[in-house]
Amino acid sequence: MTTTDKNKLTTLNLNGTYINAKPGQTIIQAAMDHGVYIPYLCYHPGLDPYGACRMCVVETEVNGRKSIQASCTTPVTDGMIVTSTQDDIKDLRQGIMDLLITEHPHGCLTCHRIELCGPQDVCQRHVSVTDRCTTCPKNERCELKDTIRSTELDMRTPLTYNRRNLPIHSDDPFYDRDYNLCIVCVRCVRVCDEVRVDNALTLKQRSGIAIVGTASGNSLLESGCEFCGACIDMCPTGALVERDYKWEKMEKKATTVCSNCPVGCQLISESNKFNKVIRLIGDLAGEANQGQTCMRGKFAYDYVNEKKLNSVYKNNEKISYEEGLKELSSLIKKFDRKSIEIFGSPRSTNEDLYLSKVLFKDNLGIENLSLLADNDREIFESLISATGNSTGKGNLPILKNTDNILLTLGNPSEMQNIVAMYAKQAARSGKKLIVIDPRETEMTRYSSNWIRIQPEDIFKLINAISKIIIDQAKEAPETVNYPNLDLSIAEFSSYDALKIAKEIGVEEQEIKDLANILISGDTSFIFGTDLLDSKIEKNKYLSSLLNLYHLTGNTNSEKSSLIPLINGANQIGAMYMGFDKNLDGIDRLSKNKIENNNPEFCLIFEDGANPNMIEDNDAINNAKIKVLFTNKNKYKDKDFDLIFPVTDFSTRSGTYINIENRIQYTDSSIAPKGDTKEVWQIINDLSRELKIDEINFKSKKEVFGSLAKNIKGFSLIDYDNLKKESLIINNDIDPAFINQDYSSDESISDIRLYEGRVLIKDSENIEVINNEGMNEVNINTKIEMSDDILEKFGIKEGALVTLISESDRREIKGEVTILDNLRNSISITNLFGEMAIEMQNSNDKDWSMRIPKLNYKIIDNIKKG
Ligand code: SF4
Ligand code: SF4
Ligand code: SF4
Ligand code: SF4
Ligand code: FES
Repeated sequence: MTTTDKNKLTTLNLNGTYINAKPGQTIIQAAMDHGVYIPYLCYHPGLDPYGACRMCVVETEVNGRKSIQASCTTPVTDGMIVTSTQDDIKDLRQGIMDLLITEHPHGCLTCHRIELCGPQDVCQRHVSVTDRCTTCPKNERCELKDTIRSTELDMRTPLTYNRRNLPIHSDDPFYDRDYNLCIVCVRCVRVCDEVRVDNALTLKQRSGIAIVGTASGNSLLESGCEFCGACIDMCPTGALVERDYKWEKMEKKATTVCSNCPVGCQLISESNKFNKVIRLIGDLAGEANQGQTCMRGKFAYDYVNEKKLNSVYKNNEKISYEEGLKELSSLIKKFDRKSIEIFGSPRSTNEDLYLSKVLFKDNLGIENLSLLADNDREIFESLISATGNSTGKGNLPILKNTDNILLTLGNPSEMQNIVAMYAKQAARSGKKLIVIDPRETEMTRYSSNWIRIQPEDIFKLINAISKIIIDQAKEAPETVNYPNLDLSIAEFSSYDALKIAKEIGVEEQEIKDLANILISGDTSFIFGTDLLDSKIEKNKYLSSLLNLYHLTGNTNSEKSSLIPLINGANQIGAMYMGFDKNLDGIDRLSKNKIENNNPEFCLIFEDGANPNMIEDNDAINNAKIKVLFTNKNKYKDKDFDLIFPVTDFSTRSGTYINIENRIQYTDSSIAPKGDTKEVWQIINDLSRELKIDEINFKSKKEVFGSLAKNIKGFSLIDYDNLKKESLIINNDIDPAFINQDYSSDESISDIRLYEGRVLIKDSENIEVINNEGMNEVNINTKIEMSDDILEKFGIKEGALVTLISESDRREIKGEVTILDNLRNSISITNLFGEMAIEMQNSNDKDWSMRIPKLNYKIIDNIKKG
């Protein structure tokens, strides 16, 4: 076979066996694909080859010329002969390992008793306790030790080693760093830079020796760390470990899908013999996240280890499951269907939501179904009008290769983190990232164009861009991409982009530049509705944005994505399943629109709801009867008439649909206890009690079978296959321009404070202090103020002021700087690290739902000093 065709496989002879390699593969990648192990340390399948440690050396022979090469950096060529197991290669590796462990405790690594030896045993080799693998948190999950074992190296190095005596860092949130155990493979630095685009870590020199450390200051809090845990997952030694459960040994693992946001990252969940989830690791096989997680996926799952509710309770008294079902069935019969509301959980599986919809809506006629997630109704409704269905389009990894990204009114770094990661990768490789948002966020730090205007003005800017594109299309149609451009969009003919530019404080040239960027190449649109409160304002903005999406020719492009920044983990699944009072599936608005009502009976699926949506929900608070499905023991003593214990992240399995329309299977990590059931099981049993014969399923797979028959787009999906690989449901896009209301009568008279948050700030404004062993940050707050406010309050740049927000009962002190572009506005930017500390110390262990959103606050007064 020749290699002239770049798609053709290449053949090599590896240790006497012929194997195929994919185009561009290195020797180690081809070997791994065929189950042949070549030892490695600095290489990692999730990183670019680095070629530093030389542990992966092999002998290659090409056209009769032999040489020793690092297999992680050497591409396969056709006909190459590779040998990796002969004695001279083993000797080379042994020499490298000898050198490597001159600074690593290695007494245990060559001891024949290692399998039997416990921390308290007397060591026959006189290795001190602190130098033993048995007292290292990575013992039994250490890649370094595995590498040494699997190569069967006979270590000749003397037991003594040069201990670095570096301090162990246990003072930052969530994870510990012990660089005494570091072998300087630089994987952590590389993943933080290459994949996360954060650069929080770096190589440093200490007494002439390279070691790893924080890139800025000594604490991760001041170094730009987003506590994603990628460096921990990459570390082959005990140098970086999650603090909680770090000594715990894994007994079982499961492939799960994170249910903290709609990205749906695939995670490997490790549990111990006491049925606790002890670690979550980004799964490299996860197609949406490609091995990555975020702070919420990595560290926010300890709530599943809290004491759980395992019995049914009626008015705080334990009753049997069967009694509970009878009670629930008789309660449902008592109320008129119009006075019942069912609140679903954004963490519920498709099977749970589907069966609930079949029972409550189809059989009992209860129309009032809604999710306890942020109300993104306008997003779904606008998407149906503009594209024919309420989901977006495209997939997340292609974001990094799209030519341009337009991000409006969203904060994906914190709310849909992996979306931000890909956008940062795109920005770093020179793609244009346009951000339209008044807040300073991590995304604005990476933007090529940051347009800072009031959220209510964004639709005007977008329409001005559209007008420029339409005008250009009339003169030079070949420059505009959209094939069916309807130039008769009458309202636009009178739209004056110049006038609009003046009105919203953006230069006309800047609007033209934005239009030019957006029609050059493929643009992915990522959009939220943060900061907009009214339905009218949301609709104006969304319709203008989706019209622009069509106008820029991205509708049918495979390289552009349309990503709605919704919040609930399975909110898209709920749309598909028809679990929504105003949508009948993903492509239809419901005929009977329900806005507000006062239910007398509420059934609430609690898991994954922002707690405020239950606690401050008038409909729930005023209902006569409240039934709760939960796993949290704390609700037992609250005001609920009936409580059923249901599964949570650790005990639940089933399917989810993420913001890419990707359907994925999540497995349970541990078995549920007592009367704890999955929601679909309770609904199934309740249907029996209510004598609804058509609902009688024996397994989740059967529920999925029914769902696949009845839900559009699911008919060909194989349930068992989903356990092996995820699948994107491709919906045809039926593009349409949305008629808009162009009026702009919204006038903003309040002084607004826009709060932003970033990973890193000027070091002179940050002081890290150690309080009882944990780091905290003091920040010298800069308060940016627009000219009109400075003038109104007679304040000069550099003055100290106090902002008073009565609604927020908060005072913010800081030094004044000038805020350009925004009028009647103030801006401050907080540090992500402060929020990470707050989350780590939160009383609510399900703190992922408590991440403080970046909204604006009304400032009632400004005091000098
Ligand atoms: S990292 Fe820990 S377990 Fe691994 S070899 Fe070093 S001391 Fe042993
Ligand atoms: S946890 Fe922090 S240091 Fe580690 S990879 Fe993530 S951002 Fe970088
Ligand atoms: S801390 Fe871990 S990942 Fe980073 S260089 Fe050291 S051994 Fe490698
Ligand atoms: S990005 Fe979302 S799904 Fe992924 S780990 Fe973070 S919270 Fe979980
Ligand atoms: S693993 Fe190949 S050089 Fe380090």
